Amino acid sequence: MTAGPSHIEAPAIGAHGLSHLPVLATLPAVRSAIESILAELRRTQASITEVRPADPSKVQSYAAWLKRNNELRGRATMYPYVGAGIGNGALVQLADGSVKWDMINGIGVNMFGHSDPRMVEAALESALSDVCMQGHLQHNVDILEIAEILTAQASRTSRLRHCFVTNSGCMANENALKICQQKTHGAPRIIAFADCFMGRSTTMSQIGDTAAYRQGLVQNILVDYMPFYDPTLGPRSTEIAVWHLKQMIERYPKQHSCFIMEVVQGEGGFNVPPREFLEALMRICRDASIPVWVDEIQSFGRTENMFAFETMGLGEFIDVATVGKLTQVCACLFTEDLNPGPGLLAGTFSSSTSAYHVGRRALEILRDEGYYGADGRIAQLNKAFRACAEDLVRRRPEFFPPVINGFGRPIQSVIGGIGGMMRLTPLGGKKDALNALLKVMFEEGVIALTCGHGPYHLRLLPPFGVMQPAQFKSVFAVIECALDRMK
Ligand SMILES: Cc1ncc(COP(=O)(O)O)c(C=O)c1O
Repeated sequence: MTAGPSHIEAPAIGAHGLSHLPVLATLPAVRSAIESILAELRRTQASITEVRPADPSKVQSYAAWLKRNNELRGRATMYPYVGAGIGNGALVQLADGSVKWDMINGIGVNMFGHSDPRMVEAALESALSDVCMQGHLQHNVDILEIAEILTAQASRTSRLRHCFVTNSGCMANENALKICQQKTHGAPRIIAFADCFMGRSTTMSQIGDTAAYRQGLVQNILVDYMPFYDPTLGPRSTEIAVWHLKQMIERYPKQHSCFIMEVVQGEGGFNVPPREFLEALMRICRDASIPVWVDEIQSFGRTENMFAFETMGLGEFIDVATVGKLTQVCACLFTEDLNPGPGLLAGTFSSSTSAYHVGRRALEILRDEGYYGADGRIAQLNKAFRACAEDLVRRRPEFFPPVINGFGRPIQSVIGGIGGMMRLTPLGGKKDALNALLKVMFEEGVIALTCGHGPYHLRLLPPFGVMQPAQFKSVFAVIECALDRMK
């Protein structure tokens, strides 16, 4: 057999004997081409430094894009958003030339913002791999690298040891549910919190507690809902929840496959319970042999540790955890004890090679570059957000009338959330008013969303990988301007 072309050499040897880079991406000529592309990227994005209105010469073509978008989709999307494919950190340029602060990032996906050279570099390297999509039958080293980072982080404070990677949060949740059901021999019920959100498959839409998301769907799972923590009730809230949980377990003995919990509720309102609340419920589950599954698809990476369960010191109770969004690839982690039988978990696609490379790079930077801990970059960013929010609330109280919760009591603070999950509750937390505000904010140059089911809140998932604390001043100037327009 003749030797192959001389430029195809063995990859550099990494910690595990294999480089995570495709062979081509290690070649000097390719490295220098990638450097040239990154230099062009830096030059191009350097002009994106502040919010900008649309370029008048592009308004017509942009309207045509939106029309096509709406026709294809069958309805208008929430925002008239078509990205230009370029940005600079927290600033994104749209196809009409306008520039906006992106405070939602694909609902928490792009936490290094737009056009981050490190992420672009990882994506360029991934493009030199032999395949675009990888699967569970055949995969490259990439899937192992990312699964290893996740399990290494998780196993520091929990019994989670295994990781099954997939390509959406919803699919990670489907896998978690299957694992729990198999472990409990097909127990037909599950326990979930009121206001939870878990994704859009038929089963997850059933469990997720938003009526509109399951309208017209056939009920395919039995869900027992628990009240989430209500800070206005304090410790009484824990007593009430414990009472509910015990009742359910007595009512349906051995019929629950799991208790699914978001450690911090995302869509439900960026609700942060105290440790004692979750611990009390997790202990009851443990005593009743009901697996505890935490859905960290929105909270993962965003608190003072990678896993929110770690931040809350609850690792010992966790049987299954799901992660997604900022990881780029999604995953279900589980303990030795819950390792399912062969055949239960598989799939044609696990994820794309670029998602593996970008996700890995993102996780390594987060893990190694000072993001976590009480003084980490995430904590600093949250401090900056709070300072700006407090300043706005103090100077402009007219935007912040009392907000009444579901029990008819005023909420304790119009500023909330944790770490990189930030919320603000102007305009009394009224749904229509907040939806109208989002539209005006978009026009003025800030992209955000709401969360909560009444009261509603402004939800910010800033790209904490790159955002500078000082940038919140500019973001809040736009929010204030938008609130002024609401008068
Ligand atoms: C807590 C939680 N679980 C699951 C999902 C579903 O993830 P995906 O949209 O990737 O399927 C989401 C998405 O917002 C989420 O916030």
